Amino acid sequence: MSQEFKPTYYPQEYRNFYSAFDNYNVKLIEIAKPVLDFEPARILDLACGIGLSSLALRANFANAHILGIDIAPDMIELAKTSVQDANIEFRCSETMLRDIPKGTIDMVFVKSAYHHFEDQITLSHLKEILSKNGVIAIAERTSRSARSYPLPDIARRYWADYFALPREESRFVADDSIKLAVCSYGEYVDIAVEDYFMALKNRQIFGTWALKQEVIDQWLAEQSAKKLEAFTVFEEFWMYLYKQAI
Ligand SMILES: C[S@@+](CC[C@H](N)C(=O)[O-])C[C@H]1O[C@@H](n2cnc3c(N)ncnc32)[C@H](O)[C@@H]1O
Repeated sequence: MSQEFKPTYYPQEYRNFYSAFDNYNVKLIEIAKPVLDFEPARILDLACGIGLSSLALRANFANAHILGIDIAPDMIELAKTSVQDANIEFRCSETMLRDIPKGTIDMVFVKSAYHHFEDQITLSHLKEILSKNGVIAIAERTSRSARSYPLPDIARRYWADYFALPREESRFVADDSIKLAVCSYGEYVDIAVEDYFMALKNRQIFGTWALKQEVIDQWLAEQSAKKLEAFTVFEEFWMYLYKQAI
């Protein structure tokens, strides 16, 4: 992704908006569970943001130690103050994986973030820290989902194209990992208009980062006139699942 489209995340606004997907996140992770043939003791939530994905992991794996790592200090700060769970640890790190001992992680989970760093952190890097039979689960949005978000046309098209299929071969190089499955899960989710507008104003939604202010203002004015209470989106992610080849 080119530099000009690099997002700035605002932790509180991010939370207001993306908390609408709490139940969805729990169900998304459920689809990865059958490929784990053991109860994971240590899970890495890579690019955990404010910890929403870490909480969804906790809902699925009650006994695991979860380590959430993110590059953004203010996202990690909110994760630390808002998530009260003695067995979830948050760390802000630019070096990300370098501090994690090799062979110690049973599951690496990356939601909505692999596209930010796939050039720097490949599957080979992730495999190094995996334990025997460990699993990598990478969740990336589908283009159908991106298209379902009400947005100025240019942003919706950009977002949908960015996540257009096929992704597996061109973007996820498997090395000698065994690809277990590619599956998806989707459902309709309502987002309160107020939270949606705030997220758009703060450009927290993919594809809106490079929009001109006038485009955003005009779109918001048109939508406000409709006096809606909520926007309904189809939240859908692919889950790419890999297992360590021993
Ligand atoms: C859309 S958020 C997803 C957060 C979380 N996984 C979730 O599902 O709620 C993307 C996150 O990726 C992080 N990120 C972006 N570029 C990164 C990089 N190069 N290395 C690590 N994290 C990065 C951002 O700071 C942000 O918190």
